[in-house]
Amino acid sequence: PRIHYHDFIVQSTPVKRLCNTHSSITVNGQFPGPTLEVNNGDTLVVKVVNRARYNVTIHWHGIRQIRTGWADGPEFVTQCPIRPGGSYKYRFTVQGQEGTLWWHAHSSWLRATVYGALIIHPKEGNSYPFPKPKRQTPLLLGEWWDANPIDVIREATRTGGAPNVSDAYTINGQPGDLYNCSSKETVIVPVDSGETNLLRVINSALNQQLFFSIANHKMTVVGADASYVKPFTTNTLMLGPGQTTDVLITGDQIPARYYIAARAYASAQNAPFDNTTTTAILEYKSAPCPAKGASIRPVLPSLPAFNDTATATAFSTSFRSPGKVEVPKEIDESLFFTVGLGLNRCPSGAMSSTCQAPNGTRFTASMNNVSFVLPSSFSLLEAHHQGIPGVFTTDFPAAPPVKFDYTGNVSSSLWQPTRGTKVYRLEYGSKVQVVLQGTSIVTAENHPIHLHGYDFYVIAEGFGNFNPETDTSKFNLDDPPLRNTVSLPLKGWAVIRFVADNPGVWIMHCHLDVHISWGLAMAFLVDNGVGELESLEHAPEDLPLC
Ligand code: C2O
Repeated sequence: PRIHYHDFIVQSTPVKRLCNTHSSITVNGQFPGPTLEVNNGDTLVVKVVNRARYNVTIHWHGIRQIRTGWADGPEFVTQCPIRPGGSYKYRFTVQGQEGTLWWHAHSSWLRATVYGALIIHPKEGNSYPFPKPKRQTPLLLGEWWDANPIDVIREATRTGGAPNVSDAYTINGQPGDLYNCSSKETVIVPVDSGETNLLRVINSALNQQLFFSIANHKMTVVGADASYVKPFTTNTLMLGPGQTTDVLITGDQIPARYYIAARAYASAQNAPFDNTTTTAILEYKSAPCPAKGASIRPVLPSLPAFNDTATATAFSTSFRSPGKVEVPKEIDESLFFTVGLGLNRCPSGAMSSTCQAPNGTRFTASMNNVSFVLPSSFSLLEAHHQGIPGVFTTDFPAAPPVKFDYTGNVSSSLWQPTRGTKVYRLEYGSKVQVVLQGTSIVTAENHPIHLHGYDFYVIAEGFGNFNPETDTSKFNLDDPPLRNTVSLPLKGWAVIRFVADNPGVWIMHCHLDVHISWGLAMAFLVDNGVGELESLEHAPEDLPLC
C-alpha cells in the first residue's frame, strides 16, 4: 500500500460560465477540483489550506473513515471549520472499498464549486471483476448558478423562502453546447471502435436528482458508491446527489459523435426546478471530420420526462450485490425515521415580514419531527470524545412522536418540527435497521439520504406508508446492494441495515443541500468497543478549533 500526499489550496478563482465570470471558490484554481486516484488499501494525506474568505471543510464522501472520524469533514460534526488563513491535514486509509467516490466541501453551499472525483482502483495486484476497460473517464454532474451560491442560500435562509434554482447543469464543470456561450468548452469523451470504456458517473449537483443517458449506447452498470454490483444493462441512469454509478460502454456504433446528456428528475409536486439539459460528447476517434463549415449536431439521447418516477424507480431497484452477502439478521436497534419538509412560524420582529413560505411561514425540514441544528462552540465529535456537556443531547427519538398517514393528507399541526441538536446513541457492534419513511408534509419530495462513516444494505423500498406486517416479505437478505446514499422513492420508504462497527459521530442527512440548510439531518453517536482496534483514534494535533 502507498501513501499519497496532496495539497488542496482553497481559494477564490475567476470562473467563466454562461457568458459571465464569477469569482468562485476552487481547489488549486481548478473547477471541478483535482481527481484523486488511489488503490484500495492506500492512505491519503491531504493538507487543506484555506485562502478563501469563507470557513471551509472537506468531506471524503463515502470513505468509511474506520476509526478516523476526525478526517470525515462535515463542519461542526467531526471538526470545527478551517478558518480563512488556517489549514488542516486529513489523513485516512481506504479499507475494502473499490470504485468511484468523490470529495466535496461540507460547509454551507461551498460544494457548488468545491468538489472532485476520488477514484479507488483495485488493491495492488488485483483486477476488476469485469474486463479491463481501455479508458476510464470520471463524469461529475453538477449545477451552476449565475450568482454566488453562498449568497443564494444566505438570501433564502434570511427570507425563509426557497432558494433560486440553478441556471445550468454541468458535466465536469461545463454546461455544454445547448447553453449560451458554452459550446467551445463542451467536454469530449473519446472512444475507439470496439473498445470498452469505464465511465465513472458522479452526481455532485447541489439540489437535483438527475437522469443520465448516452445516445445510441447502452450502459452496463458494474458498480455504485464504491462497491461492485451484479452487472445489468440500461439506457438511463438516475442518480441522487451523492450517488455514484460506474458503467461500461462499448464503441459499437457507427464512428461519429453522440451526445451524453443529463437533466432533472424532479418529481416534487409544484417545486420549481431547472428544466435544461447538460451535454458532453462521446467522440469516436475514427469519426470522419465534419466538412469545413458544416455543423453536424450529434444525436441527442431520449431522456425520461422530469416526473418519470417509474423509470427512476425501475433503475434504483435493479441493484444487487454481485453474490450472496452477510446482511445483519437479528436486529438490535429497530428504528423508524420520518423524512420530510415542514413549515415553522416566523420569529416575530424584523424577519417576519420577509418569511416567504406559504402564509408568512418559513421552510424547515426534519427527521422524526426534529429539525437538526449544528452546534457552534465544539464539534459533536470533540464534545463526545472529551465529554464536554451541553453541546448535544442523546434523545433523538427511535420512532416519530406520533403515528400518522405519512404520505397522505397530513394535518398542519405536524408541520412544525422542533429544533434541536439530538443524536441517537448506538452501542459498538449493534445491528441496526432504519426504516426511512418519506412524508407528504407541505409537499412530497425526493430525498437522497446519505450516512457518513458507513455503507449500508438497502434491503427494500416501496411506495406509500411502510407496513411492518406485510412489507417485511419484500426484504432482500440475500444480495441487496451496498450503498452510502439511498434515494427514497417519492412518497415512499426504504429500509437499510448496517452494523455499527465504526466508533464516532456520523451525520445522516438528505443530500439536497437546500434540505440540509432546513435541518433534514440527524447524527448517530457510536460508542467505542473494547480495545484500541475498536476505538476512535486520537484527535490530530492540528484539528481546527471553533
Ligand atoms: Cu456528500 Cu454529508 O455529504
